[in-house]
Amino acid sequence: MNDTRDRLRIAVQKSGRLSEASLALLRDAGLAFRTSRDRLFLYGENMPVDVLLVRDDDIPGLLVEGSCELGIVGRNVLDEQRLAGADAPTAATIQPLGFGACRLALAVPDGGAIATIADLDGSRIATSYPALLADWLRAQGLRADIVVLNGSVEIAPRLGKADAICDLVSSGATLAANQLHELATILHSEAVLARSPHALGAVPTQLIERLCARIAGALSGAGARLLMLQAPRSALAAITQLLPGRERPSVVGLDGYPDDIAVQALCRTTPDWQQLEELKRLGARSVMVLNVERMLA
Ligand code: PRP
Ligand code: ZN
Repeated sequence: MNDTRDRLRIAVQKSGRLSEASLALLRDAGLAFRTSRDRLFLYGENMPVDVLLVRDDDIPGLLVEGSCELGIVGRNVLDEQRLAGADAPTAATIQPLGFGACRLALAVPDGGAIATIADLDGSRIATSYPALLADWLRAQGLRADIVVLNGSVEIAPRLGKADAICDLVSSGATLAANQLHELATILHSEAVLARSPHALGAVPTQLIERLCARIAGALSGAGARLLMLQAPRSALAAITQLLPGRERPSVVGLDGYPDDIAVQALCRTTPDWQQLEELKRLGARSVMVLNVERMLA
């Protein structure tokens, strides 16, 4: 870890399934960036936080060696590194990020000789996840040759390099485009926020805490709605019962109308029309549902 550095570095996938959503999340957390000419570095303009755009497989290593303090990466990549590295230090997961859901799956050519998991015995399997695959094969009591490839795993069967592949599947488009189909799922995964195992000074630690609170805020705000309405004060108890939110609603008086109140309630999801109609039946007026951009608990 470079002790003289006073800016945080976050490693993010350069181009792939997680790239766009990772940067969108950092922007939602309030970070603004200027892109370097080579497009490999995003300079944080409003906080001392920069983004390094790298291959996702390199992210655990960057965290372990201390070149980056934080990383956004698939849990599968961290799991692979942990299994492969035995007792070596590993990046720690701070929190799942709710996007990039995928699975590590075994897939075989359509219409090929391998039709069941048992048929994999004695086969050659191409993958970028040799440790996770070896672990699964052991648990299944299967023997296979693991062919380690760092990219374009899906074309290995066509090139005659392997009989099956073990790769990430999200939409399934890559498998379909290569006439492959899934045989078994090894692992479910999603994007997580991970941190370097090194102890950091007080300033970077505080910065990470601030950033994590903002990220959690941006995530909890996703899908949340603010329900606003006016109603007779006498209807408050019945209306409160119907409100979908778990937190206490804010209730305020209306100037010049002592019998009326205004209510604001945070809802985790959008209230449906039926709920709004029931509120109206109880006397609610001017019922509004607004998007919540951000929340800080
Ligand atoms: C994974 C995988 C496939 C693709 C599958 O790549 O290697 O190429 O996603 O997604 P699909 O089922 O939606 O087609 P990833 O973005 O993780 O990048 P990398 O393999 O190049 O690291
Ligand atoms: Zn990768």
